[in-house]
Amino acid sequence: MDKQLGTIVALEGSPSTSDFSFVIKPGADVKKGQYVQVENEKELVFGFVAEIVRANRYFEQAESVAEYEKFGRIADAFPSDGWEYVLAQVRILGNHRDGRFTRTFTPPCPGAAVSNANDDVLRRFLGFEENGLHMGAIQHHDVAAKLSMTRLLQKHVAILAMSGAGKSHLASVLLEELLERKKEHGRIAVVVVDIHGEYGGFAHDDKYGHLTKVVEGTEIAVPFRKIPPELVEEWLPNLSGPQRELLRHAMHELRKSRGKDGYSLKELLVGVDAAQVAKEDTKKTLARALNELRRYRFLSQGKENPKLISDIQPGKLLILDFSTIDSLRKKQILVALLARRLFSLRKKGRIPPFLLLLEEAHNFAREKAEAHEAISRSVIETIAREGRKFGASLCLISQRPVNLSTTALSQCNTHIILRVTNPNDLDHIQMSSEGIDARVAKSITGLKVGEAIIVGEAANYPVFVSIRDRKSLKRERGAPLHQQAMEYEAAKERKEEQVEAFL
Ligand SMILES: Nc1ncnc2c1ncn2[C@@H]1O[C@H](COP(=O)(O)OP(=O)(O)OP(=O)(O)O)[C@@H](O)[C@H]1O
Ligand SMILES: [Mg+2]
Repeated sequence: MDKQLGTIVALEGSPSTSDFSFVIKPGADVKKGQYVQVENEKELVFGFVAEIVRANRYFEQAESVAEYEKFGRIADAFPSDGWEYVLAQVRILGNHRDGRFTRTFTPPCPGAAVSNANDDVLRRFLGFEENGLHMGAIQHHDVAAKLSMTRLLQKHVAILAMSGAGKSHLASVLLEELLERKKEHGRIAVVVVDIHGEYGGFAHDDKYGHLTKVVEGTEIAVPFRKIPPELVEEWLPNLSGPQRELLRHAMHELRKSRGKDGYSLKELLVGVDAAQVAKEDTKKTLARALNELRRYRFLSQGKENPKLISDIQPGKLLILDFSTIDSLRKKQILVALLARRLFSLRKKGRIPPFLLLLEEAHNFAREKAEAHEAISRSVIETIAREGRKFGASLCLISQRPVNLSTTALSQCNTHIILRVTNPNDLDHIQMSSEGIDARVAKSITGLKVGEAIIVGEAANYPVFVSIRDRKSLKRERGAPLHQQAMEYEAAKERKEEQVEAFL
């Protein structure tokens, strides 16, 4: 039997179809956020405790309390303790009958007994699945938060929080769950754009190592012949009309003469220089722009790394470690290129359904950006809009949601929000996440590291989840400051000692 917690009271305007209050039984443990149920005409009314208040008649009149306490304590003169009671205010979420959930059309009755929500019903009420992705536990109940993979990922997910709130930890938990999925439940491939080199631990992990491949950012190579001129134009948005024409012309000529053998960027530069059709100025400016691309060193004659078609496999993880790349533009170009190729291969059915997980997403799909800074935005927005039809999913992670493209963010049908304190970010999150009311928004600032609110497609109602511990190897980046300082001085002293010994 589910634990009895208290009795519904009749107050002005309550119980109604949207809320009720109950007096908590002495000794019963009731917490803010806890789910409760009440029987009402053979149905269960489901709700959660939105607030708890204590009351005591003896202390209702401020004037009398002040007057009395001049001469002694009220508690000494009257049996005031016995008059204290605790009232829980419940927001109703809906009704449950014969395995089905409906809206609440009649209020529960005053005097009715309130009990702790039944775990099984709660699981179904929130929309969790037995074979779902196990992200953690919901607070105050013994219920694992197992999110349906399809509901969480098909229409994309955004993980939003301030720095250090646990976004990467949460993302690692998600990766573990995706790698552990059984074939019969449907496995997808995962590609991670690892900006800070935090996910490398997966490759050295006993359990996940054989499912993981890491490609260093500086090792990424794409055969130039696979790049159409339109893409190069996208990377170099400042080209003029004649420069574009020249670029197309030169690439076309090379393609014609080289065919499958491919060609290098250096050869394209020679081709541009030799072109008869263009003015010297045009050639020079185009060459300067192309030389910048050449410095990024990822366009090759034939080498390809990663090999998307063979490296993208169901139940496997491909990590692109961008931590060694300094230039944001290079990172954007690589993300744009990768995302575009992934989406196009997926549309042709040449790779399995996949999840592209993007850390620091605000740098790759920036809301307000000049053309040369917005190279990867359009493809991310395209996948955000059309990806679900083709099994191309995005997980966008950001500590600056204000700067993240609203188009992309609004297409993420599930938002997982961890601690956020910046008021601008909070406002933005509240505006862009359907289902976050003022009450939920208020509690976001009170979240601790590792606590999350899941809103949207993946859960029927906004739900608070304590994210579970990770099982995979953690790659620590950045030792505590005092430790780094001590290590520096110790190393310096060792060096000085060695010099002295030598002298
Ligand atoms: N659910 C959790 N359980 C235990 N530890 C956690 C949890 N969530 C986060 N942590 C720890 O808190 C620290 C910060 O977490 P994490 O690196 O995931 O934050 P972040 O939001 O990604 O930060 P940043 O914005 O700097 O990337 C890490 O040491 C991590 O191990
Ligand atoms: Mg992080």
